[in-house]
Parts: sequence; structure tokens; C-alpha cells
Amino acid sequence: MSHTRRTFIAGGAHTPFIGKGHPDFIWKRHPDFGVKENPDIESLLKAAVDGALADTGVDPAAIDRLYLGNFLGELFSNQGHLGAALAGSHPAFAGKPAARLEGACASGGLAFLAGVDAIRAGADAVLVTGVEVQTTQSARVGADYLARAAHYRRQRSIDEFTFPALFAQRTKAYREAFGVSEEDIGHVSVKAYTNANKNPLAHMKARQMSIDVAGSENDRNPCFLANEELKPFIKMSDCSQVSDGASALLLVSEAGLAALGRVEADAVEVAGTGHAVASLYTDGDPTRLTTTQSAVEQAYASAAITAADVDVAEVHDCFTVTELMMLEALGLAKPGEGAALTRDGATAIDGAVPVNTGGGLVGFGHPVGATGVKQPLEIFRQMKGRCGDYQVNKAMNWGITANMGGDDKTVVSLAIRNLG
Ligand code: CAA
Repeated sequence: MSHTRRTFIAGGAHTPFIGKGHPDFIWKRHPDFGVKENPDIESLLKAAVDGALADTGVDPAAIDRLYLGNFLGELFSNQGHLGAALAGSHPAFAGKPAARLEGACASGGLAFLAGVDAIRAGADAVLVTGVEVQTTQSARVGADYLARAAHYRRQRSIDEFTFPALFAQRTKAYREAFGVSEEDIGHVSVKAYTNANKNPLAHMKARQMSIDVAGSENDRNPCFLANEELKPFIKMSDCSQVSDGASALLLVSEAGLAALGRVEADAVEVAGTGHAVASLYTDGDPTRLTTTQSAVEQAYASAAITAADVDVAEVHDCFTVTELMMLEALGLAKPGEGAALTRDGATAIDGAVPVNTGGGLVGFGHPVGATGVKQPLEIFRQMKGRCGDYQVNKAMNWGITANMGGDDKTVVSLAIRNLG
């Protein structure tokens, strides 16, 4: 598909991602329990929107369109119709076109793509947001809600924790196919927490993880599935977090960038996009993310780059094994070699291709609808030197993202070029 109008990310903001394990998250053992409440979906969305407006200095009245990614507002917050919630998050948005996009954990990625399409179709400024609240229920009830991203009728019964079980199944297949050890996979978790410990907005900013804890089951890191066959293949440390949070960013055209008084060096360009969707009703090779690979290949082809050009990546590590398969789908490692790449430090902040520098879904957290917006914003922040203690210290020309909904079903990939 050809297009002539270029799209830039001008800036944006994240709220802190919080939930169990975050020092500010209020639950029964927190001193503020019963006194204060955790931020709700409306306040998180407004905080991210206000942050993006302040970061870019855009006149809210000059925003042409608004999009929001969210998966489970109806179930966790009794709130649907979130396009109208976005329109209500600033007085200047009243009457503007605003809509919510849903594609499970790729909802944010779909909102981003809708924003790119709008710029290509003639808009000059589009606000792209994502929000999720998931802590209003226990992790067990939340797992039932999240199971709606799988084929519920067919897959819900695999375990009460449906998604952890689906990825335990992949972990088992991957380890058996490639001779990868539990400790090898543990290094993904250690990297995620190490990066998150340097990120003040990360859900796991205050929790440490060592290979002694992540490398095998122990009291601090139990296997928790009831499914006996799959139980040994996933531990707490292998899981993304049940987080609340929001992200927002501003997409602009060349004219939109000029209207902000910015030059190309202040921005990054969305140079390539990919969007692939597989059937909900059937599953493929459990050792590979084939839908992700198609989306990434589209992004590479439309940006005219290859894996060899990638300097930094944000991938959907919903579970530790997923990050390894993502590295392989991105072409950064051959099948089965993602673990060795991680163990050797190539994906660490100071490695050859830093991956998930702010902690990823395991460390930064996974407020589902926000994740696909967070990823390109993180690439922007890295490329513009805004990542503080987790800043990558090398020139970055190209970044790639992969945001996945369900078990490799809906995938959005973005190839992002630094113009600095
Ligand atoms: N020993 C044994 N078992 C233990 C334990 C211990 N010390 N601690 C906890 N458990 C078990 C128990 O069975 C417990 O359940 P109950 O309390 O109901 O009995 C269960 O683990 C959960 O414990 P907690 O509620 O205390 O744990 P938590 O709130 O810290 O949650 C987690 C931990 C279950 C791993 C949770 O973080 C989780 O579910 N993470 C994954 C989230 C997820 O699946 N997100 C979606 C990713 S998939 C994707 O991205 C694509 C898409 O489209 C959905």
C-alpha cells in the first residue's frame, strides 16, 4: 500500500504503571488501605492525556482526531464507550472524532495504526492513547476476563489462569524442541526486573530479581497453575504484571510538526507499519510466533530495512518465553537461539540490540490497552535521550516494536526511524 504523507511521533507521556508489587499500590497490607483508592480508568486516561499535551505543547483545539486502545473496560471498570471518555478528558476535545479500538492486548497498537491512517488520510495532529485498569478484581478473576482474548469456548478450561497456561504450553514445546533450560529462560526475567529497577514509572521498580530466584521454582517464585502437565513450565517470575496505567502520544504530519514549532530532529518517523491477524479458532506451531513474524516483515518491508538495521526493540513479553520467540520472529535470532542471545547480554541495555529497556511487560508492567502505545513512545524516548537511568548510550537510527493480542492472533509492528 503506498502513501505519500509522512507520520511523526512528536512526544507523549506515561502514567506510572502500578499494581501488586508496586510500593504505591493500595491493597489490604498497604497503610492507606481503606483511606485512599488507586487511580481509576478516568483519572489514568486524563493523566496520560494531560502529560502528552504538556510534553508536546500542542494546542488541544488543533488535534484533529483521537484514538484509544482498551480491552476490558466493561469488565474491570463497568465502563464501555471509551471513545466518549477520551473526548471527555479535555474540554477542547468535545465534538471531535474519537474512537476506541479493541484487539485484546494489541488494542493500543490498533489505536496507533488508526492514528497513522488518519495522518495519511489528511489529518495533521492525532492523539493516540491506551488505558487499562485490571486490579479491581483478584488475579484469578482477572485471568477469566483476560481469557476472552483466547478462544474462550475452546481454551478457557485449560486452566483457571488461561493465558499463563497457554504460554506454559509454548514454553514446554520450545524447551523440548530446542533444548533450552529453565535457567536460560530465567535470564529474560532478570533482565526485565533489572531494567525496571532503573525506571521510575515501572510497576516492578522496587522488586529485585536474581537468577537464583528466576532460574527455578522456589518459595519466593512458585509455579501456580493447577494443570499438572503445564504447571512446571511457568512460575510467577515468568509472567507479565496485572497493571493499571495509561500512555498517550501525539502523531503529526509534516505540517503538524511545523505547527508545533518543532523540526524533524525533535521527532521520530513512523517509517513502516505491519498488521497481521490469524484465526481465533485454530493454533499453529507452538514454538514460533508466525503472525508476529508476518507483521514484522510488513513493517521492515514498508520501511525498506532488515533485522540487521534494528538498534533498539520493544517486544510483547507477556511471558518470558514470548520474548525469546519475539526475538526470533524479529529475525534477531534464529529459531531456538533467542535464549542464548539473552543469556549473553545482547538484549541488555548495553547490549548489541537492547530489548524492552524500561522493563517490558514483565518489569514495566502490562496495562493491556496501554502497552501498544507505550512501546512506540518508549522507542521515541530512547531515541531522544529521555530515559534517564535506563538510557541506551549509543546512536539509534532504527527501532522496531511488536505488540501482540491473544496467543499470536492480532499483531501490530512499527518500524521507527530516528531523525536526530
Ligand atoms: N505458593 C503457591 N501458590 C501461590 C503462591 C505461593 N507462594 N502465591 C500465589 N500462588 C498461586 C495461588 O494459586 C494464587 O491464587 P489464589 O490466591 O486465588 O489461590 C495465584 O498464584 C495468584 O496469586 P496472587 O493473586 O497472590 O498473585 P498475584 O496477584 O501476584 O498474580 C500472577 C501473579 C497470577 C502471575 C499474575 O501476575 C498474572 O496473572 N500475570 C499474568 C497476566 C496475564 O496473563 N496477562 C495477559 C498476558 S497475555 C497477552 O498479553 C495477550 C492477550 O491478548 C491477553
